[in-house]
Order: sequence, then structure tokens, then C-alpha cells
Amino acid sequence: MENAALLNAIIQNAIDGIITISDRGIIELINPSACKLFDYTPEEVIGKNISVLMPPPDRTNHDNYISRYQQTRVPHIIGIGREVTGLRKDGTKFPFRLGVSEVQYSGRKIFTGFIHDLSRQKEAEEQLKDYASHLEELVEERTLSLKNTVTELHRAKEEVSVSLEKEKELSQLKSRFVSMASHEFRTPLSAVQLSASLIDKYAEPFENDHITKHVGKIKNAVGNLTTILNDFLSLEKLEAGKVEPTFIRFDLVKLAEDITEEMQMVAKQNQNIIYQHTGINNIVTLDPNLLKNCIFNLIGNAIKYSGENTFIEFNTEINDQYCTIIIKDDGIGIPENDQKHLFEAFFRAHNTGNIPGTGLGLNIVARYTNLMYGHIDFKSSVNHGTIFTLSFPMS
Ligand SMILES: Nc1ncnc2c1ncn2[C@@H]1O[C@H](COP(=O)(O)OP(=O)(O)OP(=O)(O)O)[C@@H](O)[C@H]1O
Ligand SMILES: [Mg+2]
Repeated sequence: MENAALLNAIIQNAIDGIITISDRGIIELINPSACKLFDYTPEEVIGKNISVLMPPPDRTNHDNYISRYQQTRVPHIIGIGREVTGLRKDGTKFPFRLGVSEVQYSGRKIFTGFIHDLSRQKEAEEQLKDYASHLEELVEERTLSLKNTVTELHRAKEEVSVSLEKEKELSQLKSRFVSMASHEFRTPLSAVQLSASLIDKYAEPFENDHITKHVGKIKNAVGNLTTILNDFLSLEKLEAGKVEPTFIRFDLVKLAEDITEEMQMVAKQNQNIIYQHTGINNIVTLDPNLLKNCIFNLIGNAIKYSGENTFIEFNTEINDQYCTIIIKDDGIGIPENDQKHLFEAFFRAHNTGNIPGTGLGLNIVARYTNLMYGHIDFKSSVNHGTIFTLSFPMS
């Protein structure tokens, strides 16, 4: 009796639902947990067929299950761990795990069902599934946008390279044109130069000052044009990377003296170029042609931008570390605002008035100096003069 009471207490307090049915499927016992799960009172279900707690198709098939089991003994529903669906009184369904055991009790066969609610677990599983599929969607979305970005990038890259290519072509075309034009101009210019010289010669017997003066003007103009064309060609070669310095050991003082002599001839009235060298060594290893061009440009500027009756100082210095070349004039100077643009091609300061020039000289000087690993610097003040310094490392 005590045992029966204990058993009853266990059944009444079990967390899982427990239902027993007869071998015909009629409910005989239902514990509070099962009542709560299905939302029935015991009175409402006891004596009814167990199929009321099942949704279709189990509902209609259940009787067959039982009779089949009785005939075949194949445990269709006996056992643990089957996941089935229950039907609540209000028509809603819920998942549970059903364990069924067969009991022989006072000569009669009854079945006991153990009902373990799976709603929470299923909900969690569903949530997990939802979350996973959301994640998948998110990953897909991000992958797509990444793909789009990559495609955009590719397209942008192509566009850039196309426009770069066009720009390159254009600049090549421009360079080719400049160099072609410069070359083509040179031939007629030398014809003009030659003819001017011939006129000069044939006019000698007439001793006509006007002829001499105008022929001089023609020669001068041709000289200027030739200089400009040469600058264009130098620039074009520099742009094309065609200028490569050829380093040679040579006597800098000798070169400087030659240049001084040559430049003195084109200097203004009473404009004296004073050359001086400091140091016991005269030999440097640089490109003499490029260097000569640089010095020509700098002294040319000094002559052009300073007045008559002035001195132009031209100094070279060689010590263990550096070779320095200095050209100093006391001419018009360079306005401070213009100084930062001085080495740009075609730039000319505002105080040049009607002094001719193309603004290419210093650009070429700076680039030649760079090619020889040198450094260009200057100091200038308006109406006081200008000093340009080139320095090259000795080793
Ligand atoms: N010694 C100087 N004194 C004053 N201004 C100078 C001097 N040297 C250069 N400049 C200024 O710098 C500018 C650029 O000089 P750069 O030699 O490049 O061109 P440019 O003399 O005008 O023309 P070119 O190409 O015929 O030499 C000049 O136009 C001038 O304004
Ligand atoms: Mg110049």
C-alpha cells in the first residue's frame, strides 16, 4: 500500500507528462503535467480515446497502430525517443518526445506514455536556424557588395589607365611636334643666317651703315631664335628621358675661362665678367657639356637682367667635398613672390618688362644640375642683384 502511495506521488509530481491507456486506446490515467501540457482537466479526457490528443494523421491512424502492434508485435509505437506532435484542447499543437511502455497489470495489458515537452527546445532550434539563415543572408549580401566594389574598382582602374594612356599619347604627340618643328625651323634659319652673312659681304664695297645695321639685326634675331629652338629641343629630350650625363674628368678652370671669354663678347657695354677660382685642384668629374650649358644660361641671365657698366662675378671653388659655381650680378633682382616658381618651365618674373626670354633656361639648368647629382640655389633682392649657386659633391 505504501508502495502504491509512493508510486502515485511520483506520477503526480513527475515533470514529464504520464498517461496510461487500455489496450483499446482509452485513457485511464493522466497526471497533472500531462494535463497542463494538453490543457485538459483529467475529467475531460479520462475514458476518451487517446487520439483526441493527437492531430491528424495520427489521430485516425492510432487505432490501426494498436491493432497492428497486437497482431505483429512489431513495436510501432513502443520505445523511447519518438518525436511526435500533441494537440491541445484549444487546437494548437506542440512537439514532444514520446516513450511508450507496455505493462501487464492484474491480467490486463495497459500502455503507459511518457511525454517530454520539446516546445522550448524546438523554439531554440528554430531560433538558431533563423539566426543561421539570417547570417547566411548577411554574408551573401556582404559578398555581393564586396563583389560590386571590386568590379567598380576594376572599372575605375581601367578608366584611369585609358585616360593615362591618352595623356601619354598626347604628350608624345606634343613632344614629337615640338621636336619636329624645332628641327624644321633650323634649316630655314641657317639659310637666313647664311644669306645675311653674304649680304654683309656683298655690301662691303658700298660702305652703307644702314645695310650693316640691319644685317646685324637679322643675325641677332636669328641667333635668338636658334637659342629658343635649342632650348625647346633640350626640354623635349629631358622630358623624354633622353638626356644622360656622361661623366668625364676635366679641367673646370679651363672650361670656365673659355666660357668667360665667350660670354664677355655678348655682354653689354662695359659689363665686365670677372672670373676667379679658389682651391688647388682644378679637376672635376662631371658632364662638361651639361655644365657648360648651365653656366651659359646663368651668365646669360646675369648679363640680360643687369645694366651696363656693371661687374658680373663668376667664381668656382673646389675643395675635398664640393665643387661650387657661383654667378653674381647686381641687376634688377627677382621679386620675392615670384621666387618659388622660378624653376618652372616658361615662368618669368614680373619685373622683366620688355627684356626678351622664354622662361626655359632655369628649368633646364635645374634639371641638368639634378642629373649630375648637384644642387641649385639662389638669393635675390629686387634692384640689388642676384646670386646663383650650383654645388656638386666631389665623390
Ligand atoms: N640674374 C637674374 N636677375 C634677375 N632675374 C632673373 C635672373 N635670372 C633669372 N631671372 C628671372 O627668372 C626668370 C626665369 O629665368 P630663365 O632663365 O628660366 O628664363 P628667361 O631668362 O626669361 O628666358 P630664357 O629661356 O631665354 O633663359 C626670368 O624671366 C627672370 O624673371
Ligand atoms: Mg635665361
